Amino acid sequence: MVKICCIGAGYVGGPTMAVIALKCPAIEVAVVDISKPRIDAWNSDQLPIYEPGLDEVVKECRGRNLFFSTDVERHVAEADIIFVSVNTPTKNRGLGAGKAADLTYWESAARMIADVSKSDKIVVEKSTVPVKTAEAIEKILTHKSKGINYQILSNPEFLAEGTAIEDLFKPDRVLIGGRETPEGKKAVQALKEATGANVSEVAYAVGKDSRIGPKFLNASVGFGGSCFQKDILNLVYICECNGLPEVANYWKQVIKINDYQKSRFVNRVVSSMFNTVSSKKIAVLGFAFKKDTGDTRETPAIDVCHGLLGDKAQISIYDPQVTEDQIQRDLAMSKFDWDHPMHLQPTSPTAFKQVSVVWDAYEATKGAHGFCILTEWDEFKTLDYQKIFDNMQKPAFVFDGRNVVDPDKLREIGFIVYSIGKPLDAWLKDMPAVA
Ligand code: UDX
Ligand code: ADP
Repeated sequence: MVKICCIGAGYVGGPTMAVIALKCPAIEVAVVDISKPRIDAWNSDQLPIYEPGLDEVVKECRGRNLFFSTDVERHVAEADIIFVSVNTPTKNRGLGAGKAADLTYWESAARMIADVSKSDKIVVEKSTVPVKTAEAIEKILTHKSKGINYQILSNPEFLAEGTAIEDLFKPDRVLIGGRETPEGKKAVQALKEATGANVSEVAYAVGKDSRIGPKFLNASVGFGGSCFQKDILNLVYICECNGLPEVANYWKQVIKINDYQKSRFVNRVVSSMFNTVSSKKIAVLGFAFKKDTGDTRETPAIDVCHGLLGDKAQISIYDPQVTEDQIQRDLAMSKFDWDHPMHLQPTSPTAFKQVSVVWDAYEATKGAHGFCILTEWDEFKTLDYQKIFDNMQKPAFVFDGRNVVDPDKLREIGFIVYSIGKPLDAWLKDMPAVA
């Protein structure tokens, strides 16, 4: 029986391995992690991540050919194929801080593989890593190899959170890269058995992405998530290191514009509400970085809340999948610390007194002067906005950062509405210009 071990039981490793186990019952899949709470959660009824369809897949395979364990070394030693999907955060100190990818976790995983392996291995990099990482990993492994043969393959994840299971069932494309040697080609072939993939050229793969088109051109309060900013910053760093300052600057602007979009949204809220939100109750509907996930990494909601708190607003937050503890932790954390080990993060952050977290959109908006929609949860489309309006202070403001609501319908109810990229209310036109 082919054995697969995946190092890192996170947003990538967990769903990917669960689907491999489902589709390949003849393969034994072990997902390992150094975090015991995370593994305990994978083995419980309350999985550590929210992803539509994931519960069902895990329920079917767990204990059959899918196992979650903290016994990292044993499973690595026993595996034929090792996937590595550990975190690759942005460096928060030292050379390249704030831009370069921190490959500490990747490197320590590679060294551990070299230490415990007793048989040949195919090592697959699944984490988003900078170009040339495979070569670096190959150096670590072969220098410590003790006569063991390692084939390093790249099989970058293209799954998006919130649709991970769907993306894994019906991928637009699967990319597997390896050395052009006979051994490398053999390893690529072995992984294809495991995943049912076709080897394809990068350009072909990019062209296959159905998101290149209107599906992915929805205006929003800003993009978030664990990947986009981190990968762009890393690209900036790589360009700078390779003497391409113009290209580096181009990519830097993407981050700048995204930051501008978030601060522009806050400015819009404040300027519309007579230039101050001090002591006003503002409801925030949605905190996750997009719908159908409880993930808050780099969510634009953090910046918007910071902006509103800076102007002394009272904020009441509702998100169907994010806990109060998580929100308070996110608001207390410094930039770039989120993807580093838990011990660097405040365990019991000083709670922001002006922030309350509730489990209901009606409760969040009760008595509020305005509300902001920051995540496009489907349930926000069908709220009883008349009821919400009746319970709010007047004039009642709506700032829709995801174009979820129908502005005309809400205006009919009596709201003053701002929707990203849509014509302004007469009221908002008269307000001071937003920077
Ligand atoms: C991303 C990539 O899409 C995926 O291929 C890669 O493997 C991991 O990183 P993810 O971070 O899960 O996936 O989310 P994605 O759907 O790409 O959205 C990123 C951010 O952009 C979100 O905050 C989302 O709300 C925003 N977005 C996306 C928009 O504002 N408008 C859009 O049209 C699409
Ligand atoms: P992603 O979104 O890329 O999946 P996550 O942060 O959700 O990233 O998951 C990465 C996981 O990898 C974390 O649960 C972390 O504990 C785990 N991890 C990091 N380094 C190691 C290691 N050396 N051995 C095992 N697990 C590791």
